[in-house]
Amino acid sequence: MKTAVDHLVEKLNGLAPEIALVLGSGLGGLVEEVSEPVRVPYGELPGFPKSGVSGHAGEIVAGLFSGVPVLMLAGRSHYYEHGNAAAMRPALEALAGVGIRKLMLTNAAGSLRPEMGPGSVMLITDHINFSGSNPLFGEPTDRRFVGLTGAYDADMRGVLKKAATDTDTPLHEGVYMWFSGPSFETPAEIRMARTFGADAVGMSTVPEVILGRFLGLRVAACSVVTNLAAGMTGAELSHQETKDMAPQGGARLAAILRKAIGDL
Ligand code: HPA
Repeated sequence: MKTAVDHLVEKLNGLAPEIALVLGSGLGGLVEEVSEPVRVPYGELPGFPKSGVSGHAGEIVAGLFSGVPVLMLAGRSHYYEHGNAAAMRPALEALAGVGIRKLMLTNAAGSLRPEMGPGSVMLITDHINFSGSNPLFGEPTDRRFVGLTGAYDADMRGVLKKAATDTDTPLHEGVYMWFSGPSFETPAEIRMARTFGADAVGMSTVPEVILGRFLGLRVAACSVVTNLAAGMTGAELSHQETKDMAPQGGARLAAILRKAIGDL
């Protein structure tokens, strides 16, 4: 059987992107901005996730974004879908196998900072893994001891910050804390997260950061804030709110990415 790498190489037909973007909630529309798009459903790629959060399988869209060759991943696998933190490993290995050197990850998150409300964008500077899991559980080689001190690439962060300034787009910075989900956090957990030094909470991205570093990729990540975290307003949280609010911050992050992509 053909491997995911073989299949992708064939489909890319000479296009050689160095950067892959993983599109979280609110950014899915970015695939429409890819010119000369090559679309490859995950179903054609052995090892790629079978279905995403809304039940639809994802796809890779490759082509030019702001004139730069990219691979976009529309759809990711979340730990809460199956309890396997390594679910994205085959997909990320395939990306590395076709020559991807950099990963730009995006997600939706809840904010712990009242001034960083829904619609804000946060550049992730560091993370806290509070899930109790790790995508490298079971990895037998010493390569499993991945250093994460510089996980969020300083050069890529600099480019993203400059693009935010150049496009007049507010960009916060902070620490993202990974909770397993799928239930939202409790107000007590959010108070704990704040004490621990988190600025935002979410249910994705951290496994991909760890796997990306394991594979030697350079990594950057941004959160789109869809809500203030549990207990910060009177309201109960819902997935509907995440979906409804993600496009606002998504549009801001898209503006930053259009400007940054050539320098990332
Ligand atoms: N918590 C966890 N994940 C999230 C949230 C949240 O408040 N908002 C969007 N994704």
